[in-house]
Amino acid sequence: MKQDSRIPVRGGPESVQDPHRSLHSETGTRPGEHPGRSGNPLVKVAGLAWLEFEKPDLDRAERFYADFGFTVADRTPETLLLRGRWASTACLVVRRGPRARFVGPAFQAAARDDLDRLARGTGGTVTAHWGGHGVLLRDPSGYPVRVVDGVPDLAALPERAPLPLNFGNSGSAPVRANATQRPARQPAEIQRLGHVALGTTRFREALDWHLDTLGLIVSDFLYLDGQRDRGPVMAFIRCDLGSVPSDHHTLAMALMPQTGYLHSAYQVADIDEVAASGEYLRERGYRHAWGLGRHIQGSQIFDYWRDPDRLMFEHYTDGDMFDATMEPGWAPMSVSGLAQWGPKATAEFTGAKDPRVVVAAIKALRDKGNEIDLHALRGLIKAMSS
Ligand SMILES: [Fe+2]
Repeated sequence: MKQDSRIPVRGGPESVQDPHRSLHSETGTRPGEHPGRSGNPLVKVAGLAWLEFEKPDLDRAERFYADFGFTVADRTPETLLLRGRWASTACLVVRRGPRARFVGPAFQAAARDDLDRLARGTGGTVTAHWGGHGVLLRDPSGYPVRVVDGVPDLAALPERAPLPLNFGNSGSAPVRANATQRPARQPAEIQRLGHVALGTTRFREALDWHLDTLGLIVSDFLYLDGQRDRGPVMAFIRCDLGSVPSDHHTLAMALMPQTGYLHSAYQVADIDEVAASGEYLRERGYRHAWGLGRHIQGSQIFDYWRDPDRLMFEHYTDGDMFDATMEPGWAPMSVSGLAQWGPKATAEFTGAKDPRVVVAAIKALRDKGNEIDLHALRGLIKAMSS
């Protein structure tokens, strides 16, 4: 991202500002607060490679995923591989398992040597994996985190182009003259995996692990209103690709009464693709979770759906891309702060009315070694209703 020449450079004589901070964050990082990146990470991963799930019924899973917009890359009685249209590895690995659950993420290493460095640094082992190599780690939340290198990409598939739009009236000829706009209600064409959002009872520990081990960097922090001095409780975290812009978040992580999958998000071409494919899902009887709207942290136009096992999946388009110069923004966590426009986030999205959350909260309060205490719970409940 090009630095705006009017904006003072970090370390300069004037107060530090960056473009996204002034748009939607109260302030940037204050002295003594979490810097949002590690001083000396073990490696810097290059991206999210795929997500692994288990599902009891692969036929039903395949029907939903096709309706949601994935392309089947491979199918065996025990495994379903799904992909986007862009050249990449498969982005979803679904294995037959006793219950529907998210298993863990796989990240793309920047170089083969990084796998050895990770193995040395964590006591792991590099093994052959799907035509390349991988090392399997475990993060403090308990997720198995795979880092891979050399797994061959699947070739790009043809894809729908974004619709030509007649913007404004600047005196220039319309892009679309003598032609109508008729986006079809059909399954989306997913381009690629964007990010995964996870809840954890050990947010700070898991955050630091991802920054120190995988070299991820924070784009935005959220804190509980009135509890900023207790540190952040949510982070939107991206890959550090130096001067190459990277998705605003590849991983979003939030302190929650229960460790678990929140959602994963997949990029499509444009807003009509998000909206029209949502109509298609609605007509097929799938459960809508929240949307259409535009997020604040990441700016994506989003729409959220539940699959038949109630796992949440997001279509998005037009997300922010930050290079490594962008510093973390800080903002209070609230439901109304999740979107710039769109309907208010539903309880279906936040899980606020899920009775299992209350049980999990009581259990988390009793358990030792996590970051859930009464202050945090009170703040989270307040955030869910503000
Ligand atoms: Fe998301």
